[in-house]
Amino acid sequence: VTGQQSHVTSEAMGDKGLRVGVNGFGRIGRAVVRHLLNQNKHQIVHINDLNPDRQNLKYLLQYDSSYGRLNQEIGINEEGLILKNQTVSVSAVEEIEKVPWKDRGVDVIVEATGVNRNSEEAKNFLQNGIRVVITAISPAADYTLVFGVNEEGFDPHKHKFVSTSICDANACAPILKYLNQTFGIEHGFITTLHPWLSYQNLMDGPSRSQSYPGATYSHYPLGRSSIGTLIPKPTTVVSACEIVVPELANVLKCFSYRVPTNVVSTADLSLCMKKNVTETQVIEAIKVFQAGKSSFIDICYEPLISVDYISSRHSCIVDSRWIMVTGGNFLKLVLWYDNEWGYSARVVDTLDLISGQNVR
Ligand SMILES: NC(=O)c1ccc[n+]([C@@H]2O[C@H](COP(=O)([O-])OP(=O)(O)OC[C@H]3O[C@@H](n4cnc5c(N)ncnc54)[C@H](O)[C@@H]3O)[C@@H](O)[C@H]2O)c1
Repeated sequence: VTGQQSHVTSEAMGDKGLRVGVNGFGRIGRAVVRHLLNQNKHQIVHINDLNPDRQNLKYLLQYDSSYGRLNQEIGINEEGLILKNQTVSVSAVEEIEKVPWKDRGVDVIVEATGVNRNSEEAKNFLQNGIRVVITAISPAADYTLVFGVNEEGFDPHKHKFVSTSICDANACAPILKYLNQTFGIEHGFITTLHPWLSYQNLMDGPSRSQSYPGATYSHYPLGRSSIGTLIPKPTTVVSACEIVVPELANVLKCFSYRVPTNVVSTADLSLCMKKNVTETQVIEAIKVFQAGKSSFIDICYEPLISVDYISSRHSCIVDSRWIMVTGGNFLKLVLWYDNEWGYSARVVDTLDLISGQNVR
Protein backbone atom coordinates (compact mmCIF):
# COMPACT_ATOMS: atom_id res chain seq x y z
CA VAL A 1 0.00 0.00 0.00
CA THR A 2 1.50 3.32 -0.96
CA GLY A 3 0.92 6.65 0.72
CA GLN A 4 -1.76 7.48 -1.89
CA GLN A 5 -3.65 4.28 -1.11
CA SER A 6 -3.44 4.73 2.60
CA HIS A 7 -6.96 6.14 2.98
CA VAL A 8 -8.29 2.59 2.64
CA THR A 9 -9.50 1.38 6.02
CA SER A 10 -8.60 -1.99 7.49
CA GLU A 11 -12.21 -3.16 6.96
CA ALA A 12 -11.84 -2.39 3.26
CA MET A 13 -8.57 -4.34 3.29
CA GLY A 14 -10.73 -7.34 4.11
CA ASP A 15 -8.61 -8.69 6.94
CA LYS A 16 -8.31 -8.19 10.63
CA GLY A 17 -5.00 -6.35 10.47
CA LEU A 18 -5.02 -2.84 11.90
CA ARG A 19 -3.56 0.25 10.30
CA VAL A 20 -1.22 1.45 13.01
CA GLY A 21 0.16 4.92 13.67
CA VAL A 22 3.10 5.32 16.06
CA ASN A 23 3.54 8.56 17.98
CA GLY A 24 7.04 8.80 19.41
CA PHE A 25 9.79 6.85 17.68
CA GLY A 26 12.05 6.33 20.68
CA ARG A 27 12.94 3.13 22.52
CA ILE A 28 9.37 1.83 22.83
CA GLY A 29 8.12 3.21 19.50
CA ARG A 30 10.95 1.55 17.58
CA ALA A 31 10.66 -1.73 19.51
CA VAL A 32 6.93 -1.79 18.69
CA VAL A 33 7.73 -1.19 15.00
CA ARG A 34 10.34 -3.98 15.04
CA HIS A 35 7.80 -6.38 16.59
CA LEU A 36 5.18 -5.36 14.01
CA LEU A 37 7.63 -5.97 11.17
CA ASN A 38 8.50 -9.42 12.55
CA GLN A 39 4.91 -10.33 13.25
CA ASN A 40 3.33 -9.25 9.96
CA LYS A 41 -0.27 -9.03 11.21
CA HIS A 42 -0.78 -5.26 11.21
CA GLN A 43 0.33 -2.51 8.87
CA ILE A 44 2.38 0.44 10.08
CA VAL A 45 1.06 3.44 8.14
CA HIS A 46 2.37 6.53 9.90
CA ILE A 47 5.15 7.46 12.30
CA ASN A 48 5.37 10.81 14.08
CA ASP A 49 8.37 11.98 16.09
CA LEU A 50 9.89 15.34 16.95
CA ASN A 51 12.98 14.27 15.03
CA PRO A 52 12.46 15.66 11.49
CA ASP A 53 15.49 13.86 10.00
CA ARG A 54 14.08 10.77 8.30
CA GLN A 55 17.57 9.51 7.44
CA ASN A 56 18.15 9.48 11.18
CA LEU A 57 14.84 7.70 11.84
CA LYS A 58 15.89 5.09 9.30
CA TYR A 59 19.33 4.78 10.92
CA LEU A 60 17.87 4.38 14.42
CA LEU A 61 15.49 1.67 13.26
CA GLN A 62 18.20 -0.11 11.30
CA TYR A 63 20.92 -0.22 13.97
CA ASP A 64 20.14 -0.73 17.63
CA SER A 65 22.64 -0.87 20.48
CA SER A 66 20.52 -3.41 22.38
CA TYR A 67 18.85 -5.44 19.64
CA GLY A 68 21.35 -5.33 16.79
CA ARG A 69 20.67 -4.73 13.11
CA LEU A 70 17.17 -4.91 11.72
CA ASN A 71 16.82 -8.08 9.68
CA GLN A 72 15.17 -6.30 6.74
CA GLU A 73 15.75 -3.48 4.29
CA ILE A 74 14.49 0.04 4.96
CA GLY A 75 13.98 2.48 2.10
CA ILE A 76 13.24 6.19 2.05
CA ASN A 77 11.04 8.23 -0.27
CA GLU A 78 9.54 11.73 -0.23
CA GLU A 79 6.73 10.62 2.13
CA GLY A 80 8.74 8.72 4.67
CA LEU A 81 10.18 5.26 5.17
CA ILE A 82 9.62 2.18 3.06
CA LEU A 83 9.11 -0.89 5.22
CA LYS A 84 8.26 -4.24 3.62
CA ASN A 85 7.86 -2.46 0.27
CA GLN A 86 5.15 -0.22 1.71
CA THR A 87 5.39 3.50 2.37
CA VAL A 88 5.10 4.52 5.98
CA SER A 89 4.50 8.25 6.00
CA VAL A 90 6.47 10.28 8.53
CA SER A 91 5.83 13.60 10.25
CA ALA A 92 7.54 15.72 12.90
CA VAL A 93 4.67 17.37 14.75
CA GLU A 94 4.72 18.18 18.46
CA GLU A 95 0.97 18.26 19.06
CA ILE A 96 -0.61 14.87 18.55
CA GLU A 97 -3.92 16.37 17.36
CA LYS A 98 -2.12 18.00 14.42
CA VAL A 99 -0.67 14.74 13.09
CA PRO A 100 -2.54 13.53 9.95
CA TRP A 101 -3.68 10.22 11.50
CA LYS A 102 -7.13 10.48 9.94
CA ASP A 103 -5.76 11.27 6.47
CA ARG A 104 -3.58 8.20 6.70
CA GLY A 105 -6.56 6.01 7.62
CA VAL A 106 -5.07 5.03 10.97
CA ASP A 107 -7.21 2.61 13.03
CA VAL A 108 -5.11 2.78 16.17
CA ILE A 109 -2.42 5.11 17.50
CA VAL A 110 0.32 3.73 19.71
CA GLU A 111 1.17 6.75 21.86
CA ALA A 112 4.82 6.25 22.87
CA THR A 113 6.15 9.76 23.52
CA GLY A 114 5.66 9.61 27.29
CA VAL A 115 4.33 13.19 27.13
CA ASN A 116 1.25 13.59 29.35
CA ARG A 117 -0.36 16.19 27.14
CA ASN A 118 -0.37 13.72 24.24
CA SER A 119 -2.14 10.99 26.18
CA GLU A 120 -4.73 13.49 27.44
CA GLU A 121 -5.29 14.95 23.98
CA ALA A 122 -5.41 11.53 22.31
CA LYS A 123 -8.78 10.84 23.94
CA ASN A 124 -10.34 13.15 21.35
CA PHE A 125 -9.40 10.76 18.55
CA LEU A 126 -12.09 8.35 19.72
CA GLN A 127 -14.64 10.70 18.09
CA ASN A 128 -13.00 9.94 14.75
CA GLY A 129 -13.15 6.22 15.36
CA ILE A 130 -9.42 6.02 16.06
CA ARG A 131 -8.44 3.88 19.02
CA VAL A 132 -5.45 4.64 21.22
CA VAL A 133 -2.97 2.48 23.08
CA ILE A 134 -1.04 4.44 25.71
CA THR A 135 2.34 2.98 26.70
CA ALA A 136 2.06 4.34 30.23
CA ILE A 137 -0.46 4.60 33.05
CA SER A 138 -3.34 6.84 32.02
CA PRO A 139 -6.16 7.92 34.33
CA ALA A 140 -8.27 8.45 31.19
CA ALA A 141 -7.88 4.85 30.00
CA ASP A 142 -11.06 2.81 29.72
CA TYR A 143 -9.00 -0.32 30.35
CA THR A 144 -5.56 -0.90 31.83
CA LEU A 145 -4.44 -4.14 30.25
CA VAL A 146 -1.82 -6.32 31.88
CA PHE A 147 -1.46 -9.71 30.24
CA GLY A 148 -1.43 -12.50 32.77
CA VAL A 149 -3.83 -10.52 34.95
CA ASN A 150 -6.85 -9.27 33.04
CA GLU A 151 -6.61 -9.99 29.30
CA GLU A 152 -9.81 -12.08 29.56
CA GLY A 153 -11.76 -8.98 30.60
CA PHE A 154 -10.69 -6.94 27.60
CA ASP A 155 -13.57 -6.22 25.25
CA PRO A 156 -12.54 -4.56 21.95
CA HIS A 157 -16.12 -3.30 21.43
CA LYS A 158 -16.06 -1.47 24.74
CA HIS A 159 -12.41 -0.65 25.45
CA LYS A 160 -10.98 1.84 22.97
CA PHE A 161 -8.54 3.92 24.98
CA VAL A 162 -6.25 1.35 26.48
CA SER A 163 -3.26 1.70 28.76
CA THR A 164 -0.65 -1.06 28.71
CA SER A 165 0.55 0.10 32.15
CA ILE A 166 4.30 0.17 32.88
CA CYS A 167 6.91 -2.52 32.31
CA ASP A 168 7.40 -3.14 36.04
CA ALA A 169 3.69 -3.79 36.64
CA ASN A 170 3.57 -6.06 33.58
CA ALA A 171 6.29 -8.10 35.30
CA CYS A 172 5.09 -8.03 38.91
CA ALA A 173 1.28 -7.88 38.81
CA PRO A 174 0.61 -11.37 37.31
CA ILE A 175 2.85 -13.14 39.86
CA LEU A 176 1.58 -11.05 42.78
CA LYS A 177 -2.04 -11.70 41.86
CA TYR A 178 -1.42 -15.41 41.59
CA LEU A 179 0.62 -15.69 44.80
CA ASN A 180 -2.03 -13.73 46.66
CA GLN A 181 -4.77 -16.03 45.38
CA THR A 182 -2.75 -19.16 46.13
CA PHE A 183 -1.08 -18.42 49.48
CA GLY A 184 -2.25 -14.93 50.50
CA ILE A 185 0.12 -11.97 50.80
CA GLU A 186 0.09 -10.23 54.19
CA HIS A 187 2.46 -7.45 53.16
CA GLY A 188 5.77 -6.92 51.40
CA PHE A 189 8.29 -4.84 49.49
CA ILE A 190 9.20 -4.61 45.82
CA THR A 191 12.64 -3.33 44.81
CA THR A 192 13.14 -2.80 41.11
CA LEU A 193 16.48 -2.23 39.38
CA HIS A 194 15.70 -0.40 36.16
CA PRO A 195 18.13 0.56 33.36
CA TRP A 196 18.67 4.21 32.60
CA LEU A 197 16.13 6.03 30.44
CA SER A 198 16.68 8.55 27.69
CA TYR A 199 15.68 11.59 29.76
CA GLN A 200 18.45 11.03 32.33
CA ASN A 201 21.74 12.94 32.26
CA LEU A 202 25.17 11.67 31.30
CA MET A 203 26.68 14.27 33.65
CA ASP A 204 25.13 15.81 36.80
CA GLY A 205 22.34 18.26 36.07
CA PRO A 206 18.68 19.02 36.75
CA SER A 207 16.26 16.10 36.91
CA ARG A 208 14.32 16.45 33.65
CA SER A 209 10.73 15.31 33.22
CA GLN A 210 9.67 13.20 30.26
CA SER A 211 5.95 13.63 30.96
CA TYR A 212 6.14 17.43 31.12
CA PRO A 213 8.83 18.55 28.62
CA GLY A 214 10.77 21.54 29.88
CA ALA A 215 9.89 20.87 33.52
CA THR A 216 12.32 19.63 36.14
CA TYR A 217 11.63 17.48 39.18
CA SER A 218 12.53 18.13 42.78
CA HIS A 219 13.83 14.57 42.86
CA TYR A 220 17.40 15.80 42.44
CA PRO A 221 19.27 12.47 42.57
CA LEU A 222 17.72 11.36 39.27
CA GLY A 223 19.49 14.30 37.62
CA ARG A 224 22.90 12.97 38.65
CA SER A 225 25.22 11.25 36.22
CA SER A 226 23.60 8.01 35.06
CA ILE A 227 26.94 6.46 34.17
CA GLY A 228 28.64 4.39 36.84
CA THR A 229 26.07 5.17 39.53
CA LEU A 230 23.17 3.45 41.27
CA ILE A 231 20.46 6.06 41.83
CA PRO A 232 17.84 5.28 44.48
CA LYS A 233 14.43 6.63 43.53
CA PRO A 234 10.71 6.23 44.08
CA THR A 235 8.77 4.03 41.64
CA THR A 236 5.10 3.66 40.76
CA VAL A 237 5.21 -0.12 40.46
CA VAL A 238 2.91 -0.72 43.44
CA SER A 239 0.27 1.85 42.47
CA ALA A 240 0.37 0.48 38.91
CA CYS A 241 -0.13 -3.08 40.19
CA GLU A 242 -3.02 -1.92 42.40
CA ILE A 243 -4.92 -0.63 39.35
CA VAL A 244 -5.18 -4.17 37.96
CA VAL A 245 -4.99 -6.14 41.23
CA PRO A 246 -7.02 -3.94 43.60
CA GLU A 247 -7.03 -6.60 46.33
CA LEU A 248 -3.36 -5.71 46.87
CA ALA A 249 -4.17 -2.13 47.94
CA ASN A 250 -2.12 -1.03 50.98
CA VAL A 251 -0.30 -4.36 51.13
CA LEU A 252 2.96 -3.45 49.40
CA LYS A 253 5.58 -0.70 49.30
CA CYS A 254 8.28 -0.19 46.73
CA PHE A 255 11.57 1.38 45.90
CA SER A 256 13.87 1.40 42.88
CA TYR A 257 17.44 1.87 41.72
CA ARG A 258 18.19 3.34 38.30
CA VAL A 259 21.17 1.25 37.22
CA PRO A 260 23.81 1.95 34.55
CA THR A 261 22.77 -0.66 31.99
CA ASN A 262 21.00 -0.31 28.63
CA VAL A 263 18.15 -2.73 29.07
CA VAL A 264 16.65 -5.54 31.22
CA SER A 265 15.16 -4.85 34.62
CA THR A 266 14.82 -6.99 37.67
CA ALA A 267 12.29 -6.91 40.50
CA ASP A 268 13.22 -8.28 43.90
CA LEU A 269 10.09 -9.17 45.88
CA SER A 270 10.13 -9.70 49.66
CA LEU A 271 6.72 -10.97 50.66
CA CYS A 272 5.30 -11.90 54.03
CA MET A 273 2.75 -14.61 53.19
CA LYS A 274 -0.46 -15.30 55.12
CA LYS A 275 0.54 -18.92 55.62
CA ASN A 276 3.76 -20.86 55.80
CA VAL A 277 5.17 -21.94 52.44
CA THR A 278 8.15 -23.95 51.31
CA GLU A 279 10.41 -23.14 48.38
CA THR A 280 9.22 -26.31 46.65
CA GLN A 281 5.55 -25.36 47.09
CA VAL A 282 6.18 -21.92 45.62
CA ILE A 283 8.09 -23.16 42.59
CA GLU A 284 5.50 -25.89 41.93
CA ALA A 285 2.70 -23.32 42.16
CA ILE A 286 4.51 -20.91 39.83
CA LYS A 287 5.06 -23.75 37.33
CA VAL A 288 1.30 -24.35 37.22
CA PHE A 289 0.62 -20.65 36.73
CA GLN A 290 3.34 -20.29 34.09
CA ALA A 291 2.02 -23.24 32.10
CA GLY A 292 -1.27 -21.40 31.60
CA LYS A 293 0.35 -18.05 30.79
CA SER A 294 3.42 -19.19 28.88
CA SER A 295 3.18 -16.40 26.31
CA PHE A 296 3.79 -13.82 29.02
CA ILE A 297 5.48 -15.58 31.93
CA ASP A 298 8.56 -17.80 31.92
CA ILE A 299 10.66 -19.59 34.54
CA CYS A 300 14.44 -19.79 34.33
CA TYR A 301 16.47 -22.64 35.83
CA GLU A 302 19.83 -21.51 34.42
CA PRO A 303 22.42 -19.27 36.14
CA LEU A 304 21.78 -16.20 33.97
CA ILE A 305 22.60 -12.51 34.33
CA SER A 306 20.70 -9.49 33.04
CA VAL A 307 22.12 -9.42 29.49
CA ASP A 308 20.98 -13.01 28.94
CA TYR A 309 17.39 -11.76 29.04
CA ILE A 310 17.85 -9.18 26.26
CA SER A 311 15.17 -9.76 23.59
CA SER A 312 12.98 -11.89 25.84
CA ARG A 313 9.37 -11.50 24.74
CA HIS A 314 8.09 -12.40 28.19
CA SER A 315 6.71 -9.79 30.57
CA CYS A 316 8.35 -11.64 33.41
CA ILE A 317 10.84 -14.48 33.90
CA VAL A 318 10.87 -15.96 37.39
CA ASP A 319 14.44 -16.83 38.43
CA SER A 320 13.96 -20.21 40.13
CA ARG A 321 17.42 -20.06 41.75
CA TRP A 322 16.50 -17.23 44.08
CA ILE A 323 13.19 -18.44 45.46
CA MET A 324 13.93 -18.45 49.19
CA VAL A 325 11.84 -18.74 52.34
CA THR A 326 12.79 -17.81 55.88
CA GLY A 327 10.77 -17.83 59.09
CA GLY A 328 8.15 -20.08 57.49
CA ASN A 329 6.25 -17.38 55.63
CA PHE A 330 8.77 -14.76 54.45
CA LEU A 331 9.30 -15.29 50.73
CA LYS A 332 11.85 -13.80 48.34
CA LEU A 333 11.43 -13.91 44.56
CA VAL A 334 13.50 -12.44 41.76
CA LEU A 335 11.84 -11.54 38.43
CA TRP A 336 13.57 -10.46 35.22
CA TYR A 337 12.12 -8.57 32.28
CA ASP A 338 13.37 -6.89 29.14
CA ASN A 339 11.72 -3.57 29.94
CA GLU A 340 11.64 -2.57 26.26
CA TRP A 341 11.27 -5.74 24.21
CA GLY A 342 8.99 -7.68 26.56
CA TYR A 343 6.81 -4.63 27.19
CA SER A 344 6.58 -3.75 23.50
CA ALA A 345 5.56 -7.33 22.75
CA ARG A 346 2.54 -6.75 25.02
CA VAL A 347 1.71 -3.52 23.15
CA VAL A 348 1.57 -5.56 19.95
CA ASP A 349 -0.42 -8.32 21.72
CA THR A 350 -2.86 -5.54 22.64
CA LEU A 351 -3.24 -4.68 18.95
CA ASP A 352 -4.02 -8.35 18.32
CA LEU A 353 -6.75 -8.31 20.97
CA ILE A 354 -8.18 -5.07 19.59
CA SER A 355 -8.42 -6.61 16.13
CA GLY A 356 -9.97 -9.81 17.46
CA GLN A 357 -6.95 -11.95 16.61
CA ASN A 358 -5.32 -14.57 18.77
CA VAL A 359 -2.34 -13.30 20.69
CA ARG A 360 0.52 -14.86 18.70
N1 LIG B 1 11.87 2.55 28.02
C1 LIG B 1 11.21 1.72 28.84
O1 LIG B 1 11.78 0.87 29.52
C2 LIG B 1 9.71 1.79 28.89
C3 LIG B 1 9.01 0.64 29.27
C4 LIG B 1 7.61 0.70 29.31
C5 LIG B 1 6.96 1.87 29.01
N2 LIG B 1 7.68 2.96 28.65
C6 LIG B 1 6.94 4.18 28.34
O2 LIG B 1 6.99 4.39 26.95
C7 LIG B 1 6.94 5.79 26.68
C8 LIG B 1 8.13 6.19 25.81
O3 LIG B 1 9.31 5.89 26.53
P1 LIG B 1 10.69 5.65 25.76
O4 LIG B 1 11.59 5.00 26.75
O5 LIG B 1 10.45 5.04 24.44
O6 LIG B 1 11.17 7.16 25.57
P2 LIG B 1 12.16 7.76 24.45
O7 LIG B 1 12.65 9.04 24.99
O8 LIG B 1 13.16 6.73 24.04
O9 LIG B 1 11.18 8.01 23.22
C9 LIG B 1 10.27 9.06 23.18
C10 LIG B 1 10.22 9.55 21.73
O10 LIG B 1 9.13 10.43 21.61
C11 LIG B 1 9.57 11.55 20.86
N3 LIG B 1 8.74 12.68 21.29
C12 LIG B 1 8.80 13.39 22.42
N4 LIG B 1 7.82 14.31 22.45
C13 LIG B 1 7.13 14.17 21.31
C14 LIG B 1 5.98 14.82 20.76
N5 LIG B 1 5.36 15.80 21.41
N6 LIG B 1 5.53 14.41 19.56
C15 LIG B 1 6.16 13.41 18.89
N7 LIG B 1 7.24 12.76 19.36
C16 LIG B 1 7.72 13.13 20.56
C17 LIG B 1 11.03 11.73 21.17
O11 LIG B 1 11.68 12.42 20.13
C18 LIG B 1 11.48 10.28 21.30
O12 LIG B 1 11.93 9.77 20.07
C19 LIG B 1 6.91 6.47 28.06
O13 LIG B 1 5.57 6.70 28.43
C20 LIG B 1 7.51 5.44 28.97
O14 LIG B 1 7.10 5.56 30.29
C21 LIG B 1 9.04 2.96 28.57
